[in-house]
Amino acid sequence: MTTASFWDKRARKYAASKIADQAAYEYTRERTRSYLASTDTVLEMGCGTGSTALELAPNVRQIIGTDVSSEMVKIATEKAHDQGVANASFRVAPVDAALDGPEPVNVVTGFNIFHLVRNREGIFGDIHRKLPTGGLFISKTPCLSEPSIGIKRFAFAAMIPPMRLLGIAPYVSRFSFAQLEGAIRDAGFDLIEVGSFPAMSRYIVARKR
Ligand SMILES: C[S@@+](CC[C@H](N)C(=O)[O-])C[C@H]1O[C@@H](n2cnc3c(N)ncnc32)[C@H](O)[C@@H]1O
Repeated sequence: MTTASFWDKRARKYAASKIADQAAYEYTRERTRSYLASTDTVLEMGCGTGSTALELAPNVRQIIGTDVSSEMVKIATEKAHDQGVANASFRVAPVDAALDGPEPVNVVTGFNIFHLVRNREGIFGDIHRKLPTGGLFISKTPCLSEPSIGIKRFAFAAMIPPMRLLGIAPYVSRFSFAQLEGAIRDAGFDLIEVGSFPAMSRYIVARKR
């Protein structure tokens, strides 16, 4: 099963599912909103069904959601149409080709996606190359090797290999907050805000040096 077909199969169910921690979601969405300007062009990686992009669209000039799953993109496009959001568009692209489009972007976002890719350092490098100096990279990423989470991370991480064997979990990479932050810094960013919302997920706002 490919990554795309894995997520295609789950897209309708994902669209109907409830956000696990609504308070954390709203907090980081509002923190993200606070960094955006009406002149911004934002590109989101792994946008899923487009909910966050559609909520942020009124605050920016243009927002482009990208996702490896054509079913997720289809749902996001339907939602943009149904909600009358004209400055949001969605296209199919894996993270490593998401920035290949011709449009200049000055903000890149990615929520709950960078633990699902094998080459996150390379992707952080791509994001750095695409952004202008001062451009923002805003992300939220579950960190399954984070020591401060304690026992919960072991339980979570232990479930993944058997679930993968059964075809009911995707590839998941494990790293700590420090490893994730180090990779983003090493790609050429200064971290201007970090926090954990919820506990296992690192919210990071980074600015290109
Ligand atoms: C856990 S969901 C998160 C969706 C959304 N960002 C959110 O926070 O609700 C992961 C999303 O990443 C997409 N995805 C997984 N691997 C990907 C890849 N290699 N390139 C692009 N998108 C990917 C999936 O199709 C899915 O929509």
